[in-house]
Amino acid sequence: MKNNAPGDPVAAIDTPALVIDHDALLRNVARMASVARAAGLALRPHAKTHKCAHVAALQAEHGAVGVCVQKVSEAVALTSATDAAPPRDVLVTNEVIEPVKLDALFALLSGPRAPQRLGMAVDSTLGIQRAAEAWVRAGQPAGLELLVEIDVGQGRCGVPPAEAGNLARAVVAHGLAFAGLQAYHGGAQHRRRVADRQDAVRGAALAVASAHQSLARMGLAAARVTGGGTGTATIDAASGVWHELQAGSYVFMDRDYADNEGPADAAGFEHALFVKSRVHSRSRTHAVIDAGHKSHALDSGPPRVAHGPWTWANAGDEHGRLEAPAGVALPALGDTVWLVPGHCDPTVNLHDRYVVVQGGLAQGRVLDTWPVHARGCLR
Ligand SMILES: Cc1ncc(COP(=O)(O)O)c(C=O)c1O
Repeated sequence: MKNNAPGDPVAAIDTPALVIDHDALLRNVARMASVARAAGLALRPHAKTHKCAHVAALQAEHGAVGVCVQKVSEAVALTSATDAAPPRDVLVTNEVIEPVKLDALFALLSGPRAPQRLGMAVDSTLGIQRAAEAWVRAGQPAGLELLVEIDVGQGRCGVPPAEAGNLARAVVAHGLAFAGLQAYHGGAQHRRRVADRQDAVRGAALAVASAHQSLARMGLAAARVTGGGTGTATIDAASGVWHELQAGSYVFMDRDYADNEGPADAAGFEHALFVKSRVHSRSRTHAVIDAGHKSHALDSGPPRVAHGPWTWANAGDEHGRLEAPAGVALPALGDTVWLVPGHCDPTVNLHDRYVVVQGGLAQGRVLDTWPVHARGCLR
């Protein structure tokens, strides 16, 4: 198998391969950094998208304050990847209930590559109690902060905003640091119309206001409200409600996000992640490429062919079937076909490594290969 060594031409990259267009990646990273900077917000990109310490380090170089992760094992993988700088500040934007996971998470604070700050979302008194017990078992290391997650409209994790005060009081009563509110509305991100995303953010902002009142009734205040995603980033930023943006997908910008209507939140970013595939069978009616649903996730719909008019249909684990519009030729046997994944996060999770390309997909060269450090980290 070809090794995709630095300096190799893009044409030599063996297929199927998960390819990053490094130039587009850098522009996306800089663009979101400037959205946050212009609004006076911190940017804490979600690493569940890329699962790679190299991408996280690049985001940090452009001013990101740290990373979000969804899973304890992602935090462990990213902080222990020795081929890139470890994140200095990690926030688990999720509830962690099992003692064994809490122990693994808090052990990071005393490890050789310890982050200076480690945050975690809570939405139950049981979760707070278990966190407190695990923190004591870990020797009460410095740097741990808990954020109360409120449900701002998604109907997933989080307490109703009016209950935020009670939970924050429980955090403090257990001797733990209460840092603020986790307030993310995933359902808002992919609403196609701008007006619908604005509506959802307005609703989320009201929920955050209600949580502030609930905290005030307990004599507490949220120093940090964190949330927001790629689809609503500019709307979140303009609202004045959030202190920190958690957007993740903007680094790669998948097909599903590109289907959102503008303005410059989702639409301002470029596709930077591709699956390179090759036609390995062809008939009069269709061409078959070597990338099926083991190469890219289909939960948000099919990939789009990046540089051609053909449509992709799933033809199995390892096969994609391309059809051409009337009067248009199919690609030839052996041709390269570039796919824009429908959903970047689960697509990344299917691959061991990225091939990073500089100078464009047509004429560029391999810059590096980066491991998907947190691939399969679901615990
Ligand atoms: C809690 C949380 N924050 C932020 C994000 C990032 O959102 P996006 O990838 O849409 O920018 C996600 C994505 O699912 C999430 O679950």
